[in-house]
Amino acid sequence: MEQTTSCVLFLAFVLLVFPSYGIADSLTYGTYNVLNYGAKPDGNSDSTQAMVAAWTLACGSTKAATIYVPPGRFLLRNVVFRGQCKNNAIVFRIDGTLVAPSDYKVLGTGNWLLFEHVNGVSVYGGILDGQGTGLWACKRSGKGCPSGATSLGFSNSKNIVIRGLTSLNSQLYHIVINGCKNVKVDGVGVSASGNSPNTDGIHVQSSSDVTVLNSRIGTGDDCVSVGPGTNNLWIENVACGPGHGISIGSLGKYAEEAGVQNVTVKTVTFTGTQNGVRIKSWGRPSSGFARNILFQHAIMIDVENPVIIDQHYCPDEKNCPGQVSGVKISDVTYRDIHGTSATEVAVKFDCSPRYPCTDIKLEDVKLTYRNQPAEASCSNADGTTSGFIQPSNCL
Ligand SMILES: *[C@@H]1O[C@H](CO)[C@@H](O)[C@H](O)[C@H]1NC(C)=O
Repeated sequence: MEQTTSCVLFLAFVLLVFPSYGIADSLTYGTYNVLNYGAKPDGNSDSTQAMVAAWTLACGSTKAATIYVPPGRFLLRNVVFRGQCKNNAIVFRIDGTLVAPSDYKVLGTGNWLLFEHVNGVSVYGGILDGQGTGLWACKRSGKGCPSGATSLGFSNSKNIVIRGLTSLNSQLYHIVINGCKNVKVDGVGVSASGNSPNTDGIHVQSSSDVTVLNSRIGTGDDCVSVGPGTNNLWIENVACGPGHGISIGSLGKYAEEAGVQNVTVKTVTFTGTQNGVRIKSWGRPSSGFARNILFQHAIMIDVENPVIIDQHYCPDEKNCPGQVSGVKISDVTYRDIHGTSATEVAVKFDCSPRYPCTDIKLEDVKLTYRNQPAEASCSNADGTTSGFIQPSNCL
């Protein structure tokens, strides 16, 4: 009796003195440390069940919940973090590294870590190690390889924060945001070799109100790719390279396709990339479009195609549709874009003959090739220029 009383008193004391730490945290907010559910930080033991157990508790909690992953390497197979949950404030605080199986066949095709139908999930910190090198080698040798797994997916979800996360060597895309609303990506690092196939950094599609800030992305494919159905996307302060640049598209893969609108890409440095700011569509009929797009304050360092619209996109030149693109591109502004091109043609607008690009605006553009003014090439592109323009205008 007496012991219980003093225990309660002690607890009350702790709660009073340390209201936001340790024991108070787990009592008032619910912290689920994956070690308590059998996760092992040794990099070899399978911690999938422990992660699922922690998620099930956090998701079932009627109060805000934190899942804590301490330092160490945690081997995980595919995990789906599925909602709906009973609360809309779940934090993943990751001090450790989540490691994919080294045998790529284990993850198969789809997603390694997928959040689906969640509302109010934040991922803070952590390293994801996708161990993609085996699959990349298989793809390069070209025989019967699976397409591979995206490292981190958010699907049909809203109010998501991804902050301070590092994603390494994914098999396929690093981060995919699909069918989401209100997603903030901040301070993220993505790294994969420049010749790793299809390892896009961040892919956004069918989503609105997504921001990508203060991130460093180097991969073998697009740093950020923007698919059909994206609205109100803001990208700011990103370093891109190696990789294929920031791409809107590929669009027009399907006849019935949602458009892309209101995209801002601001203060981005491209270093040694294949493209800088790109819009691309396949050459076939489509209901798709891209409009109200702003590319502002970009620095190009040795970029092959700094400014490009390509409406005859067909990367391997195999099974190209060979038709006229139905994708309508309009109201695209390039403002304060400067630096060096790795090829002679630094500005290329190759638009659809059926639906020419309209309302293209170039303002203060200066791109050089080998210390000389670079060149521009336009087909079916209409628009205006203002301020200093080099290469000389072809609109
Ligand atoms: C365009 O998107 C930004 C966020 O990226 C948003 O603040 C703004 O309201 C949007 N504009 C329109 C017209 O929807």
